[in-house]
Amino acid sequence: MSAKELAIFGGTAVLTTEDHRTWPQVGDEERAAVMRVLDRGVLSGGDAPEARAFEREFAAHAGTKHALLTHSGTSALQVAVAAVGVEAGDEVIVPSYSFVATALAVMSQGGIPRFVDVKEDTGNMDPALLEAAIGERTRAIMPVHVHGCPADMAAIRAIADARGLVVIEDAAQAHLATYQGEPVGSLGAAAGFSLQSSKNLSAGEGGVFTTNDDDLMERANQVRNFGQDIPLASRDGYDPTRPLDGSRAHVSLFPGHMFRGNEMMAAFARAQLAKLPERTAASQANARRLSEALAELPGITPPHVPEDRQSVFHKYRVRFDAQAAGIDLPARALRGALKDALNAEGVNAVLWQDHSLPEHPLVSKLEGYGHGWPFSAGASPDALRASYASANFPRTRALLDSSIVLFSQTRPLIAQTAEVVDRYAEAFRKVWAQRDRLVEIAHATS
Ligand SMILES: Cc1ncc(COP(=O)(O)O)c(C=O)c1O
Repeated sequence: MSAKELAIFGGTAVLTTEDHRTWPQVGDEERAAVMRVLDRGVLSGGDAPEARAFEREFAAHAGTKHALLTHSGTSALQVAVAAVGVEAGDEVIVPSYSFVATALAVMSQGGIPRFVDVKEDTGNMDPALLEAAIGERTRAIMPVHVHGCPADMAAIRAIADARGLVVIEDAAQAHLATYQGEPVGSLGAAAGFSLQSSKNLSAGEGGVFTTNDDDLMERANQVRNFGQDIPLASRDGYDPTRPLDGSRAHVSLFPGHMFRGNEMMAAFARAQLAKLPERTAASQANARRLSEALAELPGITPPHVPEDRQSVFHKYRVRFDAQAAGIDLPARALRGALKDALNAEGVNAVLWQDHSLPEHPLVSKLEGYGHGWPFSAGASPDALRASYASANFPRTRALLDSSIVLFSQTRPLIAQTAEVVDRYAEAFRKVWAQRDRLVEIAHATS
């Protein structure tokens, strides 16, 4: 059998699962950080030492005055939605391509997500479509820096400013990414990051809210703590000898949540944060290396990053054009065959998402949390149904159908050596050189 035979037909795979590094990577620094917490015996508290130190260090990286640790990225976004004053029935515009938490953070605060389609080259919210989505109930715009590539913040902010709207960044996938030289997290009124295990910065689970605004910070801290009255000034009154007896008054001003992080996650995240700049540079170098190789292949388009931005390549999405590659298959059939062929070669090729956000029953059924909440507080069901129709988001559909994500959450690009990246390029070249056989694979599996 020829060494070039595709692995899916019995040939030798280009690489194995064991060649990859898995994520997150835990070293002596993380072990020491968690032990430091256990030895100290202070395990929790919004003002506890690891949480506060992490918040200071993270804010320095995000270029913001404030950062607040939360227990997830979703809760960081929900804190932001609440802090900027989104009320029941208010609309928040989000991109139609994202992880579902973007819409959920709006809905769980009583807001109603409205969607705009994305640009096919970056997968980010298309600012040209914003005006048409803004209505009387619109309160905020929440762009997502999807895959670690910043959205077009200048264009989005200009529209938001002109229409009196607040901008919240969903920076869950984009730690250390920059837009026109400024770090994400500092580009709107507030932002939310995720520290979930797959992210470039991990704490197992966790999130971070960031802002430059003192009032938003105070409000966010209240949202995070049962809606309790916690003046910022009281944070300095923390007494390490009685860490569970904080200085906050036990009076709740409004319906908040309990979204605090804990000391082990904060300490772990501090150790990871110290390594993040170097790891980000490695991720960017890996992406450059792979993109150079893939750009040579007819009909293949590596991830596009506009010149005024730096992506951190949390995910690496490759687009393909069947016609340009001379393959007689519809996009989705080609996607499936390509994924199967690459997987057989040992490549971690995944879809990550296959629905636009409005296609999730979570949204499209308009049932929400029961009795139609929060949709029932908004525009008429017919108007919402019309705005959520898949036909309104053709570029999200086209992007999902005609692309695949290389590397998985367990074995992401950021974790890999240059050798593994070269094997990915080799595997892709091998499959693409025999792309006529993808038709065979597609027909066998249809
Ligand atoms: C774009 C986006 N937003 C929000 C989230 C939510 O983060 P978490 O899973 O930490 O709640 C994620 C990640 O899972 C995400 O990818």
